[in-house]
Amino acid sequence: MMETRLWHPVALAASVGAAPLAVTLLEQPLVLWRDAAGRVQAWADRCPHRGARLSLGRVQDGHLECPYHGWQFEPGGRCVAVPALPAFQPPATHCATSHGCREAHGLVWVRLVCDGEDPGLPAFPAEDDAGLRKMNCGPYDVAASAPRIVENFLDMAHFSFVHEGWLGLRARPEIEPHAVQDTPRGLLATGCKAWQPRSNLHAMAAALVEYSYEVTDPYCALLTKVPEAGSTAVAHWRESIGLFICPLTPETSRVWFRLAVADFESPDEKLAAFQHTIFTQDQPVLESQSPKRLPLDPQAERHAASDKVSMAYRRALQRRGVRFGVL
Ligand code: FES
Ligand code: CO
Repeated sequence: MMETRLWHPVALAASVGAAPLAVTLLEQPLVLWRDAAGRVQAWADRCPHRGARLSLGRVQDGHLECPYHGWQFEPGGRCVAVPALPAFQPPATHCATSHGCREAHGLVWVRLVCDGEDPGLPAFPAEDDAGLRKMNCGPYDVAASAPRIVENFLDMAHFSFVHEGWLGLRARPEIEPHAVQDTPRGLLATGCKAWQPRSNLHAMAAALVEYSYEVTDPYCALLTKVPEAGSTAVAHWRESIGLFICPLTPETSRVWFRLAVADFESPDEKLAAFQHTIFTQDQPVLESQSPKRLPLDPQAERHAASDKVSMAYRRALQRRGVRFGVL
């Protein structure tokens, strides 16, 4: 399935208000706006009349008005008024290009091409767990391809270096054996363990933290952390983090993290600050990687047995025929 037929996150749902919002997905300029029913509309950011950017227009009486000649478009994209010709009834062909649009996980999701079966959103089971608080961090605009960012998220061998003192220690860099399996949509890795000095906001002491990773979509990934049975870790360490990436261009991305944590006390800013610290440790290394597109040719980069999850991810991209952001 080509990437244009999958759902991708494009904006925080809360950022789509009364004014049209310009965003980009897979190099396509889009305009988001909220109709009178409160539903988000996602259209090509181009007026069918003379090509002006609809995102420069305004929302009036439940219609999006083009900034150039004031043509008005209703939800779904049909043109309902041409002000220069008040008596004119625009035909159905005078319409803006509208795309599939949903709100979920605090984000607006867009599917550019809606023919065929709906593939569904990326997996994030913690969403339905009332015992976990959800919040989003981001967006982060990153000069790296979406696949490089996913691979970084799935990579445990960098913890002891990039996140030294936080998610890893230089003195304990070894990766223990873990299980990775290919799944129809991506991969599942379980039993991933890391010795973490400060695995989250509340960590009082270092602990062996067990992870699982799941990938169901090319540019998203899910991490679930559980303390090892019998460790002294307290229950509130259980957490899930969704990595949701909007591929802007093949070499630039907009990134959100959705946190699902058992901590209902800490203020949002504190939770976001921890995630911010970790990601801003990753960002310069990610942006330094060359080539920016992830090479799928197995000979293009050297691999070690500790790269099992990354290799499964590359196989998944190959299996799914992903082209955007890969070499
Ligand atoms: Fe949009 Fe003319 S270009 S109304
Ligand atoms: Co990292």
